[in-house]
Amino acid sequence: MKKKYNWAILGVSRIANKFANGLKELPNANCYAVASRSQERAENFKANHNFEKAYGSYEDMLADPQVDIVYISTTNNLHFEHTMMCIKAGKAVLCEKPFASNLEQVEKMIAKARKKNVFLMEALWSRFLPCMVKFKELAENKAIGKPLLLQCNFGFISPFDPNSRLYDPALGGGSIPDIGIYPIFTAIYLFGTPTDIKVMSVPAPAETDWTTSILLKHKGKEISMLTSSFETILDNEARLYGDGGYLKLHSMFHMPTKLTVKRNDGGEEEIHVYSTGNGYNYEAAEVMNCLDKGLTESPEMPLSFSLELMKVLDEVSRKAKKDF
Ligand SMILES: NC(=O)c1ccc[n+]([C@@H]2O[C@H](COP(=O)([O-])OP(=O)(O)OC[C@H]3O[C@@H](n4cnc5c(N)ncnc54)[C@H](OP(=O)(O)O)[C@@H]3O)[C@@H](O)[C@H]2O)c1
Repeated sequence: MKKKYNWAILGVSRIANKFANGLKELPNANCYAVASRSQERAENFKANHNFEKAYGSYEDMLADPQVDIVYISTTNNLHFEHTMMCIKAGKAVLCEKPFASNLEQVEKMIAKARKKNVFLMEALWSRFLPCMVKFKELAENKAIGKPLLLQCNFGFISPFDPNSRLYDPALGGGSIPDIGIYPIFTAIYLFGTPTDIKVMSVPAPAETDWTTSILLKHKGKEISMLTSSFETILDNEARLYGDGGYLKLHSMFHMPTKLTVKRNDGGEEEIHVYSTGNGYNYEAAEVMNCLDKGLTESPEMPLSFSLELMKVLDEVSRKAKKDF
């Protein structure tokens, strides 16, 4: 019989509600504890999602020896601090994207997890969705010949609010870390680390980026054209052009269920690849599969990938700020 893991959620966020619904799909996941800065918020979450324990402090939850895995869903600026706390307490960690605020922090998190022999993974849920995996498989199997160019956009309208975590620099705001990370992830997933990065950006009044366009050149001479924006609704698709046609991940490309393969000879195929549950169950299942095997990192979403991703995010943010 499979081991059952006690999950804890650190931070009662909007996304924590979706993640908890994902956990309920998994027979080997026990919805065990939730921790908030507010006991009342923790109690409400516990009641809504049928968890066993509610803690009014993150530290108290981490002192509970029954907790096996912690899902960190606090604001972007706090991922480093909270990951380090969890590793110190010896808990396996699944931390929301972006993994931390900068490369130096990610390096420290990885070093600490390795030193303590504790499982650590970035919660980039798109990586595990069956339709995203199929997209990569089709590209690798030359369904459109040699892949050459990725066009990928993520944009929605979020009116400027200096107190929103999307805009507040103190909370790690900006379109790049919040949604630009998905097109960047897709480019690295398909083509590997870029060798050249060009960026054009428009800042919001709070000096975090509002709309940013990125051009990446990769080792195999592939090009990625990526945009993120809080100012406009974009097509939110990923199109991968090859010398034999193109592949399209339909909107929303970061949580896809539909793909089109369009070949230059006129052939066209629509492929539906649905997820079970709400999709957040896949990343959680990966953590438990790894723990079952005694692994401290995921072969599917290795720490080296998160490191590369953060290197690119850092460079893109640095170049974007030159336009502010
Ligand atoms: N994977 C996805 O699909 C997805 C989607 C959206 C967001 N995200 C990521 O998930 C994380 C949370 O996003 P969200 O939109 O769900 O956040 P949110 O609703 O704003 O919640 C963030 C939580 O962080 C905790 N927190 C601790 N210190 C804080 C402080 N000083 N100020 C504000 N909050 C503080 C709070 O929990 P307590 O008060 O309970 O302690 C708060 O509820 C972000 O890193 C984001 O990038 C991922």
